[in-house]
Amino acid sequence: MRLEMRLDAVLSRFGYCSRREAAQWIKRGRVQVNGVVAKSPTAKAAPAAVFVDGQPVEFPDGLYIALNKPLGCTCSHREEGELVYDLLPQRWLNRADGVSTVGRLDKETSGLLLLTDDGAFVHALTSPKRHVPKVYEFECSAPVPPSAVTLFASGELMLNGEHTPCLPAELVITGECRGLLTLHEGRYHQVRRMLAAVGAPVTVLTRVAVGPLKLAELNLAPGEWVAIDPALFS
Ligand code: URA
Repeated sequence: MRLEMRLDAVLSRFGYCSRREAAQWIKRGRVQVNGVVAKSPTAKAAPAAVFVDGQPVEFPDGLYIALNKPLGCTCSHREEGELVYDLLPQRWLNRADGVSTVGRLDKETSGLLLLTDDGAFVHALTSPKRHVPKVYEFECSAPVPPSAVTLFASGELMLNGEHTPCLPAELVITGECRGLLTLHEGRYHQVRRMLAAVGAPVTVLTRVAVGPLKLAELNLAPGEWVAIDPALFS
């Protein structure tokens, strides 16, 4: 629970409007604290006690979102074309603590992507020490050799341009040209590069789980998101 803050600071910090506009909103009676219409932008309240137009301030203790990333959008704030951030409400993007993705998925990879405005959460989940398992479902344009199962599990696969071998990863071959790969790290284009290294170029790639979160259990159509409990990852 965050400490008390000035009401105009609450409204701007959580992306509703500027401090100057907040004074107008309060004057018009749009802001309540514990059910009582607020009178002054300088009055203080805990963000969780503040309501705007009858609705509680969103995510006063941090924004934690699971998105079903569609194909074709990019995990970047800057690139051309459609961005994952275009899928979120503008108010979230206006929050003082900027929203970012927890790691990245390629433009042509779909599936489970976490977003947050909590930098410590990003750090904790992407830290190489944490080894949060991420499960990818893939299809290839050539058969996956059964020998890849032991190679990937060995912790000895060296990808081009890398100085250390990949951490042991679990490969389950579910069809001649398809399977599931669980990684405990996140290198650039890792799934595609690992499968290319065994002669099975990836044609379709979806992330289906991150730690305890499973895309199938979230019931999200591509482009949809849901708030999650960060304690799932503690
Ligand atoms: N590995 C890839 O090749 N692409 C991703 O988006 C994620 C993991």
